[in-house]
Amino acid sequence: MEFQQLKALLAAHGQEHVLRWWDEIGEAGREKLSREVEEIDWNDVSLSHIGANGARGAIAPIPGLSLREIEARRAEFDAAGVDAIRAGKLAAVLLAGGQGTRLGLNGPKGTCDIGITRPVYIFERLIRNLQDVTSRVGAYVPLLIMTSDLNDEATRAFFKEHDYFGYPAQEVYFFRQAMAPAMDENGKLLLAAKDGLALSPNGNGGWYASLVRAGLAEEMERRGVEWYNVFAVDNVLQRIADPVFLGATILSGMASGAKFVRKAYPEERVGVLCLEDGLPNVIEYYELSKELSELSDETGLVYSYGVILNYLFRADMLQRTYKDRLPVHAAHKKVPYLGDDGVFVKPEQENGYKFETLILDMVREAGTCLPFEVEREREFAPIKNKTGKDSVESARELLKKNGVEL
Ligand code: UTP
Repeated sequence: MEFQQLKALLAAHGQEHVLRWWDEIGEAGREKLSREVEEIDWNDVSLSHIGANGARGAIAPIPGLSLREIEARRAEFDAAGVDAIRAGKLAAVLLAGGQGTRLGLNGPKGTCDIGITRPVYIFERLIRNLQDVTSRVGAYVPLLIMTSDLNDEATRAFFKEHDYFGYPAQEVYFFRQAMAPAMDENGKLLLAAKDGLALSPNGNGGWYASLVRAGLAEEMERRGVEWYNVFAVDNVLQRIADPVFLGATILSGMASGAKFVRKAYPEERVGVLCLEDGLPNVIEYYELSKELSELSDETGLVYSYGVILNYLFRADMLQRTYKDRLPVHAAHKKVPYLGDDGVFVKPEQENGYKFETLILDMVREAGTCLPFEVEREREFAPIKNKTGKDSVESARELLKKNGVEL
């Protein structure tokens, strides 16, 4: 983009300060900066998104499959799922583009070693979980790994170095998610350097759009993929490509499925599956009123379906809807930046906003969703924090209980 064009574009959004060091940054720096500005989606990057998702419609419980119901039909669900996997209809999508700031690891979260007597990496555990299925079924499932500019190289190198933990390399695909710039509290874009915006991954909601951009959605279509099982990097106990979950969702005729665990207590910090104005939706714990989160009947909490970030989405629905805008969530964060005086600042307090779309909002886009219950002790060991709740320590305990040697 020509300088004058770039200047006009930034001026139209009140962001001319971005060019403050234009004369100093050289040809390569100018190219970098203009590319970053050109890639901004100005609809997504705006303080108007602050609190915009607060207003909620009419909330009602959503019908789902309980453990008991699943047990009663297990053989039927399993057979349908195994058939679909053998027919090549399933792909697995590992969301690994996050920054894992809470864990504070230097490198991609999946490279975290959770072993005790030997190295056991998070990525390795996930591959083992997938192999449990692929060995039983006798067919491979393509594994699509979403990275970001911040961890792409390190993630690819790690898999290569470990020989993909025994999974066939030709079945593993990497793709990058897009980045989005952060703003300060006055709506001004923050710079990370004289020639660069303060960019971070734009949330896990853009996974399908990024898959399309990478040409992989088309490739999966060619391969006959009809379903995507999308899951988080940090739950080391989850079942991936679970035939019972897949079969149940296919037989239900719904366009998506979501694994859930029963909430242990009303204040538990998990998103809850419910109906909102008649459509399936996930409401974040901080958006569910105290009254609804505590509401109970003779069976327990009414809003008790806590999502664990393990979903199934039907490919034809994704193709139809992925261009629709997902709600943008403005997260108040500490964003390191280059001050007006050219000095780099690492703030102690939240100083800006990052803009993200979230996968949980895709459940609403799907229009229909099958909630599918799983046992917490057998399928939910997320690693979010260094210590305490949802940490390496708590995940180790659960892995040991499930017979995994560490
Ligand atoms: P989290 O919401 O736990 O975020 O991500 P995080 O970035 O891993 O960790 P914190 O909050 O900085 O400590 C849930 C899942 O979504 C993926 C993560 O990699 C994780 O699997 N994710 C998150 C992305 O792939 N891209 C993103 O932009 C954000």
